[in-house]
Amino acid sequence: MASTHKRLLLLHGPNLNLLGTREPAIYGTATLADHVSRATVVANGLGYEVDSEQTNDLGALIGMVQQAGVRYAGIVMNAGAFTHFAWSLHDALKSAGLPVVEVHLSNPAAREPWRHESVIAPVAIGTIAGFGGESYVLGIQALVRHLESA
Ligand code: DQA
Repeated sequence: MASTHKRLLLLHGPNLNLLGTREPAIYGTATLADHVSRATVVANGLGYEVDSEQTNDLGALIGMVQQAGVRYAGIVMNAGAFTHFAWSLHDALKSAGLPVVEVHLSNPAAREPWRHESVIAPVAIGTIAGFGGESYVLGIQALVRHLESA
């Protein structure tokens, strides 16, 4: 059965507002707005609306997750560096009771050891990493597939 509210939340954590100029050798030259508009086109084609929020503030991100349950069918999240230590974000996602797809532009598993742990992964339905902006598109597609098959 398809989800009743066909609206997805795309959440971006710290420093992702700098995409375009931030370490382009790792993250590329596309901006966050570029990634979001590509992912939104794909979601719309699948019949879903998308809202996108970026914050550098952990408390604000937790607040967005806490509010998500009433409006959204699921979350695609790139938590940035919060991925690697923010257990309070893990707890918020667990309580939200929504399917979450974890996405990363780079492949943290192939980078510094401190990036190898994800506190998001245990509360996500799956993780997509290493495909640049395509990770957001794949994340949307995976989430919609999950929702439509539920
Ligand atoms: C990131 C990977 C994280 O390790 C890093 O802290 C980021 C970006 C990614 O999309 O590749 O800010 O989440």
